Order: sequence, then structure tokens, then C-alpha cells
Amino acid sequence: MPYKVMAITAGRKGGNSEILAKIALERLQEHGAETLLVNLFDYDIQACTGCEGCTMQMGAVAKDPTKAYKGCVLKDKDDADALITELHSCDGVVIAVPTYDLGPSSLYLRFAQRFLAYERAFLRSIGVVKPGPNPVAALVSVGGSKHDWQSLALEGLQATMFTMSLQVVDRYMAQRVPRPGAVLLHQDIVEHMKGMADHVWDALNTPAEERGWLGDPDDGVCPNCHSSLVYPGDPHWDGIEFPWECAVCGAGGVLGTNPKTGRPTLVIDPENGLIRDRNDDAARAEHLNEIMQTTAGFFEHQHEISEELKRYRGMEFPTVEVTK
Ligand SMILES: Cc1cc2nc3c(=O)[nH]c(=O)nc-3n(C[C@H](O)[C@H](O)[C@H](O)COP(=O)(O)O)c2cc1C
Repeated sequence: MPYKVMAITAGRKGGNSEILAKIALERLQEHGAETLLVNLFDYDIQACTGCEGCTMQMGAVAKDPTKAYKGCVLKDKDDADALITELHSCDGVVIAVPTYDLGPSSLYLRFAQRFLAYERAFLRSIGVVKPGPNPVAALVSVGGSKHDWQSLALEGLQATMFTMSLQVVDRYMAQRVPRPGAVLLHQDIVEHMKGMADHVWDALNTPAEERGWLGDPDDGVCPNCHSSLVYPGDPHWDGIEFPWECAVCGAGGVLGTNPKTGRPTLVIDPENGLIRDRNDDAARAEHLNEIMQTTAGFFEHQHEISEELKRYRGMEFPTVEVTK
């Protein structure tokens, strides 16, 4: 069976992100991969309703495995289920998304925020998704500007990887490509995309336990996930606290200097700096404990606010009337 790689883009039809996705897929095809291209503009993707039906069901199934998991309430209402089910069957994914307002475009985020109901670790545990190595991912942000106006773009894409247990092996920011096709004026960008596809192919052909980062080793500030965003840590729900924390993966440590580049870096605490690493399914399960504890606390005190809740639910204000 050849490796199957899907490219997902949320850019204009025929635009820069789609072209970069095609460059990567063409290269992967040359290597022998089976390829799929998904431009989210071609699909009906509804916004997550926020009902929490999926996580409530997951909690119920965890307590009683005989209960059935029905999945997302929007399952039969749009195209997300078909796309995500296909994504679960892929060995690799290349995600190329335009940067809007510093971060990934809303169309991509609307799609990715539907991943929660399809959490790979959970679906594996109930036998819906076959066990096997995590798929590998390469992330590309595409913007009209440089890093200063794409400062949340790659990190925003990285943040959508955890639920699907996708292992990011490379990331790249295509810069100063404003109009559709502009990427083709930059041979360095084209070549970089081909190299990125080679990295995906190399990762797929490496035993899963040996797979690691194949991008620029000095990319970013976090040596764990290569994000460029760290912040001074605050106490977590259970009192854990790091002086500095990676905004994407949750690695903790202190600020230091990369001896090779002289640039700032997060120096991860060698003892417990990765206990909250969101790349790790087991560490992420700890977050489930937090949610369960917080929710239990709400139910315990719910009766105290029932009157106020009723009052706010009944409260109405003028809104904007739109005539169609
Ligand atoms: C609503 C909107 C917001 C944008 N915001 C940014 C931005 O914050 N930073 C940036 O670098 N480019 C920004 N751009 C430019 C696009 O990222 C750029 O045109 C890109 O090439 C679009 O990719 P596409 O051709 O795949 O659609 C914005 C474009 C639009 C339409």
C-alpha cells in the first residue's frame, strides 16, 4: 500500500496556498505517494456549535465502555465528517493556509475546530480509528507580509494538531506573497516546498519511534515544537507552574540563549519541563482531568445561580435586523 498524503488548503482557488499544496503533492507523487488535495472552499463546513456533546459522550464512554459514541451533532449536516474520516486514513498531511489578521484564516479554523469530536486517541480507544503510528504533518502559512504580520500564523496551525495526534515534522512561512500566483515569482519558496515534501516522505519512511523534527533545527524559540511564542507562566489548575512556557506545546523552562545562533531560546526544565507537552496523548489526558474537575465544580454549585441564569436567559436587547 503506498503512503497516502492529503494536502489541505483554505486559500483562494488557484491562489498561493493551493499552488504550494500542489507543489508538495506533485513531489510526493513523484516519490510514489497516493495524494489528495482538499481546498476547504469547495466544501460545506459549519461552525462547531459548542454543544460539547462530543466531550460529554467521550466522558460517558470512558465511564461505561458499553455506551455507543455517536460523534458530532453536525455529522450528517455538512462535509466535515467525510473530510475528517478521510484524514484519519492518511499517513501524512500538508496544510497550507493563508494568514488573515496575523493568524490562520477563519475557514481553516472553522474546519479544525470540528476535530474535537474526532479525537484520534479517543477514536482509537473505541476501535473506530485503527491503531498505528501517528500521521506526520507539514505546516505552511502564506501571507502578504513577513513574520511580523504573520506572528500567530504557524503557531495557530500548530495548535490544531494535538486533537488529531498529528506529528509536525516541518513548518514554513511563505512571506511577501500577496496576489494569487505570487509564490511562483519566488524560486526559493518553490524549492522550499519541494524540500518540505521530501521531509514528509523521509518521515513516512522512518520507523515511527525514530521520527523527529526535519525542519530548520534553529526554527522558533521552543526546542520541543519550534514555535516562536513563549510567555511568562501562570499557575495551572493543579498548581504546576513554569517560569516560561511555550504557548503552543506547553513545554516549560527558563529563557536562555541558543549558543549556536545567539538568539533567545526556551531552555526546557530537564526534570519536569515536558509534563504538560500537548504532543503527548498521556500528558494531554491530564487536561481531561482538569475539565472533569472544573465541570464537576460547576454542577456542584449550579443551584446557586439558577435564578440569575433564568434572568439572563430571559433578558432581551435590540439586535441588528437583517432583511433577506
Ligand atoms: C482578510 C485578509 C486579511 C489578511 N491579513 C494578513 C495578515 O495579517 N498578514 C499577512 O501577511 N497577510 C495577510 N493577508 C494577505 C494574504 O495572506 C495573502 O494575500 C495570501 O497570499 C493569501 O493566500 P491565498 O492566495 O492562498 O488565498 C490578508 C488577506 C485578507 C483577505
